[in-house]
Amino acid sequence: MANIFKGRSLNVIEDFSIEERRYFFRKVAELKKAIVTGDEATMDRFRIADPDFGIYEVFLEDSTRTKESFRNAAKFHHAKVSELLCSSSSINKGESYADTFNMLSGYSNTIFIVRSKVEGLTKWLSEECGEYAERNALPYRPSFINAGDGKHEHPTQELLDEFTFLEDVDMDFSHIHLALVGDLYHGRTVHSKCDGLKIFDSVKVDLIAPAELMMPESYIEIMKDNGYEVRIFSSIEEYLGQKDVALMWYFTRPQLERMGERILQKQDMLREAITFRKEFLDRIDPRTKFYHPLPRHKEHPTIPTFLDKTSFNGWERQAINGMYCRIVLLSLIAGRIGEDYEGPERVEKDFRSEEYIIEVAPGDGNKKEKNYSEGVRPIRDGIVIDHICKGDTPSEIRTHMRLISSVLGIDDGKGGEWVSCGADGKFKGIIFRPGEYDLGRKDLKRLAALAPSCTLNIVRDGKVEKKFRTHTPPRIYNFSDLCCSNEACISHPLNGEGVPAKFYRTHDGQFKCAYCGKVHSFKEIWKKNR
Ligand code: NCD
Repeated sequence: MANIFKGRSLNVIEDFSIEERRYFFRKVAELKKAIVTGDEATMDRFRIADPDFGIYEVFLEDSTRTKESFRNAAKFHHAKVSELLCSSSSINKGESYADTFNMLSGYSNTIFIVRSKVEGLTKWLSEECGEYAERNALPYRPSFINAGDGKHEHPTQELLDEFTFLEDVDMDFSHIHLALVGDLYHGRTVHSKCDGLKIFDSVKVDLIAPAELMMPESYIEIMKDNGYEVRIFSSIEEYLGQKDVALMWYFTRPQLERMGERILQKQDMLREAITFRKEFLDRIDPRTKFYHPLPRHKEHPTIPTFLDKTSFNGWERQAINGMYCRIVLLSLIAGRIGEDYEGPERVEKDFRSEEYIIEVAPGDGNKKEKNYSEGVRPIRDGIVIDHICKGDTPSEIRTHMRLISSVLGIDDGKGGEWVSCGADGKFKGIIFRPGEYDLGRKDLKRLAALAPSCTLNIVRDGKVEKKFRTHTPPRIYNFSDLCCSNEACISHPLNGEGVPAKFYRTHDGQFKCAYCGKVHSFKEIWKKNR
């Protein structure tokens, strides 16, 4: 079997499947043992030892552990390490990330390790630089590792965090009960846990943070969708006031650099709720382990230093594990290991086969011509879009009909919008436009994206000549009037990178940005809606 890891990128933790991650953790355990015991033969089986192999570190945000552990991991492999000095690079002359990284791709570097405050950057670069490599006949497509993108994800931290948890439960994947304490709003390491913890068969997560620092609802939704039991507490004090306390606590620091003025003013009060205190010691089980991605703040650490020399300290080993995990990750992406992986192959979703604009017989259903909805009847020639936003309030329906009309470019003709109420008491919207309308495939796609579950009637000589029913499209892209609402996203126009917005349908019919992962309703993905 071909090595399925070779050349892969890691933008979000889900880029590697659950089985692939479990395989990864077993390999890390093997490598760590070999390094600790000095087993050279095993170490050699992991070592890339290819003189052409190199990593390129590009850190547009500060870093110590991630950057240095990758650098040292590369040294284990005898690989070259390059670094872009961001403070003095052409990015500061207004060059796009795509141009910068395309150029670096030509220097025979295989893997880029990128940290940035721009969310979804490595996902975009892996697409862009892949195409660049192809059109310039480079010998390979570069791989990208996301070393932290804004508030979004930090997948390699997730790998080392989970490896450390697993060490403490004897590599048992059956269950985890974990408390997440700290800045759950801004911290990307805890956001990666929403999908990361799926490697465990059953997951219970206790979120401990005051409202201002609580995990965003969208991430809590992901955890619940993944089947986790989630409980919420506003402080450590409150958490310890109940009986079911986790044996694993994952702390994070308040991410001051990402906070707005309003929250910064309250920082002392917020910090107090998420900082461990001596008086709590006799209220936790002596087997409890504390973890932290680090760094800790030297004056206000959420895990105070008096705990360093106690058995609660799991964070030092966690930081040390970082290099082992990154050695194995490089080894996998370089294709040095991975051939003995026996899990299921990842199947890329094939969206092309899914039809979401269905042509139906004009007389379809129980509606004879005489029974057409209000609004259809007056039209002899033209289009009628029916069943818009069925079930919403009349005012929501009207607002959305204005957006549909504007995005479809049918604002200028005669006709109107109508809200009607069915026998079931549900409201729905109808747009009718008398006149000549020639809607092509792209317009129909746009309509499906704007109004899933509507019908489009093309009326000629007083008869419905053609009728289409729309369903929620599996992906929406290629329309210049789309826009992710997250200003930190690489595809947001404010970032000026010219990245076209792209969305994938979620299991519940919402749209997830392909870059930053932000979930939107079908109404929220249009520029004109903002
Ligand atoms: C974390 C990060 O950058 O997200 N640090 C790390 O990589 N170990 C956590 C943090 O900065 O608080």
